[in-house]
Amino acid sequence: MPTIPSSRPRVLSGMRPTGKLHLGNYMGALANWVKLQQDYECYFFIADWHALTTDYADTSKVMDNIEEVALDFLGAGLDPENSVLFLQSKVLEHSKLHLLFSMITPVSWLERVPTYKEQQENITGKDLSTYGFLGYPLLQSADILIYQPQFVPVGQDQVVHVELTREIARRFNQFYKLDGREVLPEPQVLLTPSPKLPGTDGRKMSKSYGNTIQLTDTEAEVRQKLKTMVTDPARIRRSDPGDPDKCPVGDLHKLFSTPEKLVEVYTGCRSAGIGCIQCKGWAADSLVQILAPIQERRSRYTAAQAVEIIEAGSVRAQRRAAQTMREIDAAMQMPIG
Ligand code: TRP
Ligand code: SF4
Repeated sequence: MPTIPSSRPRVLSGMRPTGKLHLGNYMGALANWVKLQQDYECYFFIADWHALTTDYADTSKVMDNIEEVALDFLGAGLDPENSVLFLQSKVLEHSKLHLLFSMITPVSWLERVPTYKEQQENITGKDLSTYGFLGYPLLQSADILIYQPQFVPVGQDQVVHVELTREIARRFNQFYKLDGREVLPEPQVLLTPSPKLPGTDGRKMSKSYGNTIQLTDTEAEVRQKLKTMVTDPARIRRSDPGDPDKCPVGDLHKLFSTPEKLVEVYTGCRSAGIGCIQCKGWAADSLVQILAPIQERRSRYTAAQAVEIIEAGSVRAQRRAAQTMREIDAAMQMPIG
């Protein structure tokens, strides 16, 4: 399959294969990626090497997780005809560029990336004093710059990594030029708005909290999860009025329900005219409507087919990455290839 020539600005983004994706992953990334496909030349990938930076001691789930994320990409509506969907470990140029960057990157730049210390403190039970974990954002810089994209669509939590990427590009361009020209343009963040999406316990939806609604959850599972969801703590009895703005179920309505339904929720809750059980039923209805088309698309593929699609995408990605790598090798006056 030839690389589709394109004059659209290029974007690149990736996701670690953490297993089946949930509504938080969808709202915070995938739904935005799906929209970008119309106006940008898109490269989206599964960052399986990045999974190793924290999970190197137990790699038994990586393969399964890649399959699930590949299926979720397709289910969410990423279109392999239009976007390049690929797997990081199939494009060796990422690792070569990471190595070359490691030659020019002061260790102090990596030590002061705020996520480094934060994560080391937050993730207990894993020894994260490794070289690979320190280098996580440098590998990310290589992931990005090997495609020379104009934009990197990410959430607020990844902005510092794109900032580092820009610094790395600048440093590279200072040392090495190709016929006087800069090889690595500094990419810009395309900030993904991340709406407040609570999990069933009212905290931010996150796999590590075990409070997620997965894209593959059946209607019965969605309804069951909603039943156990926390509500406005002030609403103790059915006769107590509540406030949807102080209720995680209210937050779900704001994201997923129609304006008409939202009016019913606000008036019903504030006047104690509806009960939480009924209100949760409505929220479940809205979620089921969002999930149905995602699940329908997902069910069109077997895991093997999804992986095949990602492998075909990886061939296209590799071709593009090799093009940048030739420029990098030439600029560095190193053997090409
Ligand atoms: N670090 C990103 C995350 O945890 C995943 C990632 C890896 C990424 N490489 C990337 C995102 C390159 C954007 C571009 O979500
Ligand atoms: Fe929350 Fe709905 Fe109950 Fe109000 S009625 S507290 S919005 S679940």
